[in-house]
Amino acid sequence: VLRVFLIDREKRIRNVYSSSFLHADSVWSDVRTILAEKSPPVTAVSLAAREAKPRVPTAAPLGLPDVPIPEGASMTPARVALGRKLFFDRRLSQNGTISCALCHVPSQGFTRNDMATAVGIEGRTVRRNAPTLYNAAYAKRLFHDGRESTLERQVWSPLLAADEMGNSSSDAVLERLASSPDYDGLFEAAFDGRGPSMETVGAALASYERTLVSANSPFDRWRFAGEEAALSPAALRGFALFTGKAGCVACHSIGEKEALFMDQDMHDTGIGYRQATASPARAVAVDIAPGVRLTIDPQVIEAASEPRKADFGLLEISGRPGPFMHDGSIETLREVIEFYDRGGVAHDRLDERIRPLRLRPAEKEDLVAFLESLTGDDVDEIVAEAEAEPVGSPE
Ligand code: HEC
Ligand code: HEC
Repeated sequence: VLRVFLIDREKRIRNVYSSSFLHADSVWSDVRTILAEKSPPVTAVSLAAREAKPRVPTAAPLGLPDVPIPEGASMTPARVALGRKLFFDRRLSQNGTISCALCHVPSQGFTRNDMATAVGIEGRTVRRNAPTLYNAAYAKRLFHDGRESTLERQVWSPLLAADEMGNSSSDAVLERLASSPDYDGLFEAAFDGRGPSMETVGAALASYERTLVSANSPFDRWRFAGEEAALSPAALRGFALFTGKAGCVACHSIGEKEALFMDQDMHDTGIGYRQATASPARAVAVDIAPGVRLTIDPQVIEAASEPRKADFGLLEISGRPGPFMHDGSIETLREVIEFYDRGGVAHDRLDERIRPLRLRPAEKEDLVAFLESLTGDDVDEIVAEAEAEPVGSPE
């Protein structure tokens, strides 16, 4: 599935090696101690802001079509607020440690930029990179393999996955919610008297996720609002390459009235075929909760690293983790361009539109400038709005 790259993924923490070291029991007990001491983590958000009701966008920002809303899934403020509460609630995991927001971190573009693939309950490594949730509302296929098609149903995947939120059954989650006093009446108020159920939990989270739309980028203002000065000369040259010589637009579509940068189709770029070369371990710092950072030493990493699980028989984690691609194998936008310039990873099923581009260094810079112009101008507002939700659980 093509993902949109409208967000600034360069603002990430650069000093993390890999995510699998959290397997070590010793490390995990440190994590638990820190979580216990700091739970819920304190962030500098004013009380007023914390109580702020989540916004329910009334119109799509410049550059995006209206959010497609399935029949019966109206986005009322009560549903969105409940969805946001659930999104940040660590009690949704079997042992009360992992919320959706710990893998889809608002300040990191609703993904995690400090690790290649996600880390779930008890430090278990998830096979893939957590995708950004920005504009996931528009995706016709969800997950990197497109196996789900609605946000409503999708939520039960992480809730029940043994390596993500680890719940033994949907009933376990629903009973926990039903017996939590702070949820008293919230489901009923949002869903015409219906209490927590697989449907209402899915519908509330999906309603919240549909508010995470981001656009109105410099590119959008240039392209759709006629602001000629919105793009730098380098970004303009990058646009010409993106839509011309480099052929990116063949898959990252740009429409007449809006640009999703995805064509809702599946393509083989060869990323999965790349051979992993493990780099020697080095000390790393990893954010285990908002504002809580743990430094882990190389010996622990060596001792705790597990052989990678195969992703359809392919290696999913290469030496250096980064925010890009389904396996987090590419660290910077410049390297994404280098990847395409080489013609992806040659193999027999490679999409024919991926081929060596022979770009000059200056052209590569121009393409990066163009990609950077795609960051929506509403990102800070969306993040502040998300962070208004108290993190963790009230106990
Ligand atoms: C342990 C980390 C983790 C947790 C917790 C988690 N996710 Fe994810 N999420 C991922 C990963 C990894 C993927 C990609 C999986 C794949 O493609 O197979 C993903 C994919 C998704 C997608 C699909 C996005 C797309 O564009 O394809 C959505 C939507 C999503 N998660 C929402 C949620 C919600 C809602 C919750 C809480 C109920 C949640 N996630 C909890 C790691 C996590
Ligand atoms: C054949 C279709 C195709 C073409 C052509 C193509 N891409 Fe992609 N692009 C993809 C797919 C599929 C992914 C997701 C790969 C993954 O997650 O492993 C992707 C991912 C990306 C990403 C990372 C997005 C993220 O959030 O991780 C960037 C950036 C990107 N492409 C830029 C470009 C640029 C620049 C060009 C032109 C030089 C280009 N693409 C050409 C299909 C294509």
